Amino acid sequence: MKNGMRNSAETQLRTALRTLKKPLIGISAISCIGNVLMLTSPMFMMLVYNKVLSSKSLPTLAALTFLALLLYAFYGLLEGLRGKLMARVGITFDHRLAPTLFEATLKLPLHFGPHARNHDPLQDLAAIRNYLMGPGPVALLDLPWMPIYFAILFFVNPILFLAAAGGALLLVILSLVNEFVMKGTMKSASQVHAATMTILMDARRNSEAAAAMSMGDDLCKRWGSGYVNTISHARDLADHASVFGAISKTVRQVLQSAMLALGAFLVIEGQMSPGAMIASSLILARALTPIDQVIGHWRSTSAAWHALSRLRSLTSKLPKATQQQHGMPRPNHSLSARDVAIVPPGAAVATVSGVSFEIEAGDALGIIGPSGCGKSTLVRALVGAWPTARGEVRFDNALIGQYSPDALADAIGHLPQSIELFDGTIAENIARFRKGTTSEQVIEAAKMAGVHDMVLAFPLGYDTPVGEGGTTLSGGQRQRIGLARALFGNPFLVVLDEPNSNLDPLGEQSLNDAIHQMRQAGKIVVIVAHRPSAIFAANKILSVRSGRAEMFGPKEQVLAALFPRIGQPHKPSQMPGQQSGNTPVVQSGLAVASSNESEAPVAGQTVRLDNSATATVTSLDATRAQRANAHVS
Ligand SMILES: Nc1ncnc2c1ncn2[C@@H]1O[C@H](COP(=O)(O)OP(=O)(O)OP(=O)(O)O)[C@@H](O)[C@H]1O
Ligand SMILES: [Mg+2]
Repeated sequence: MKNGMRNSAETQLRTALRTLKKPLIGISAISCIGNVLMLTSPMFMMLVYNKVLSSKSLPTLAALTFLALLLYAFYGLLEGLRGKLMARVGITFDHRLAPTLFEATLKLPLHFGPHARNHDPLQDLAAIRNYLMGPGPVALLDLPWMPIYFAILFFVNPILFLAAAGGALLLVILSLVNEFVMKGTMKSASQVHAATMTILMDARRNSEAAAAMSMGDDLCKRWGSGYVNTISHARDLADHASVFGAISKTVRQVLQSAMLALGAFLVIEGQMSPGAMIASSLILARALTPIDQVIGHWRSTSAAWHALSRLRSLTSKLPKATQQQHGMPRPNHSLSARDVAIVPPGAAVATVSGVSFEIEAGDALGIIGPSGCGKSTLVRALVGAWPTARGEVRFDNALIGQYSPDALADAIGHLPQSIELFDGTIAENIARFRKGTTSEQVIEAAKMAGVHDMVLAFPLGYDTPVGEGGTTLSGGQRQRIGLARALFGNPFLVVLDEPNSNLDPLGEQSLNDAIHQMRQAGKIVVIVAHRPSAIFAANKILSVRSGRAEMFGPKEQVLAALFPRIGQPHKPSQMPGQQSGNTPVVQSGLAVASSNESEAPVAGQTVRLDNSATATVTSLDATRAQRANAHVS
């Protein structure tokens, strides 16, 4: 078996930057030739002044003009070629990194928590690509050839050289001061902009709640204060840019005229010919052009640089790929968690710790426990979406990290609590947007989830678009399509987080049938549940409380052992983590499922747990809560 490591995003970024080197060297060589050709104009002018005007020779003028035209044409060709090459460099850089950064974008909230959503690596990549395709880098590539012009000025007259060098230095200092002053404002402008965008996107996502509770005005005020800040930052930046632009333009003009005056002085003193004076003035203009352009494109250069720094820092913080083994056999035997602790991304403390269990092919594990006890957190680690802070999750005997993402995609089906459908058709969602899937595979998964008839009832059947997040479907329909997606491809492990929270009895029946079929086919199913009917088909139970495994074992034994504690009348505060007295939790449901609510089954007694008990559970639990409340008051 071969060991392999997928190239990390950090390595890919480094490689992409390295591959820029060769084309940039080529383009730099073109810049060099172009800059030499730029001397055509001053040389032509000097020769016309000094040779043609004094000799009055028309053939010389014609020959010089012809030569100059040829050189200009060549220069034009090179400029065009350089622009085209830079555009291709930008696009190639983007192509190389876009898929990696798309993947990094998906991983951001999983590694750095919800706040990481403010960072958009693909936007940073677009900023770098646009910069590479624009005039900014060309100006930078012209910069190294500036000494050619200064060397010529030196040979024409050292005093002119000193004046020109002083002027260039002044412009450079000005741009450095500008960068220093703007840096803070630019940084806080981009932070405020990102925060404002988050508020806007959040409000848009929750527009129904906002409309139903007339939250529009308050949300607008919340967004508005950030927006005003964004505008004031934009104003500061624009003010600053215009002041700086005006200063550098004025300095540039003063410098040009001062050089001409100095040249005239040197001509009067007999140290230079008038032709050389005009030519040196042109050469100075040419020498200062790259500085001018670099200053002109400074904002985009600095934005691209900051974008690159952000990408570097992000990719260096993303966890490196673990040592994956190629050709690992598909897991078909067991799933185990050993002393697992999980810290949610972006959080500081573990919300699940010390959880251990092992289940085998043919098992269905029900994970139960009150709200917020860590059930979803645990299953996120079981499917590899969240990393474990301690302990390990193993399929068969291999660590989950040893399987390649493709192998895991084949082995795992997951229905998250929030369902999370994607904009596309029902068939695409069931097929997980995988290319090359057949309709037979989609229908097989749909049939197994018991949704085939439901899908066919839509006018467009499997081609029905579900809308962004599945919004054109009802909650129950979304959940059932999510179940079919989890079952697609016949995975070895199917993890269902609250799979029946939106289901009617027919949906629950289909769910239980699917779990039975999975078990019979020698697969493993993990079901997180509040409602007893969801764990009807489970044969093992893991009870979680406050992030810790409270009990694990065969369903009947665990339920019987749990029963005495919660079977007694209790105050709501005696149910840690439960939010309201009338929310049925599995444990209370089980208690009621026995014939007499105050009569606890003894260990070993079979506890009835079926769909018919669910309705009773709800009402009796509510009655019990009322009693408890009355007791409290
Ligand atoms: N991204 C996160 N960052 C910080 N804390 C989190 C995050 N996600 C969950 N938690 C915390 O972890 C704890 C467990 O949450 P989890 O969603 O696993 O509970 P649960 O048992 O699935 O609850 P429910 O039955 O209501 O779905 C909660 O206290 C929650 O606040
Ligand atoms: Mg949950």
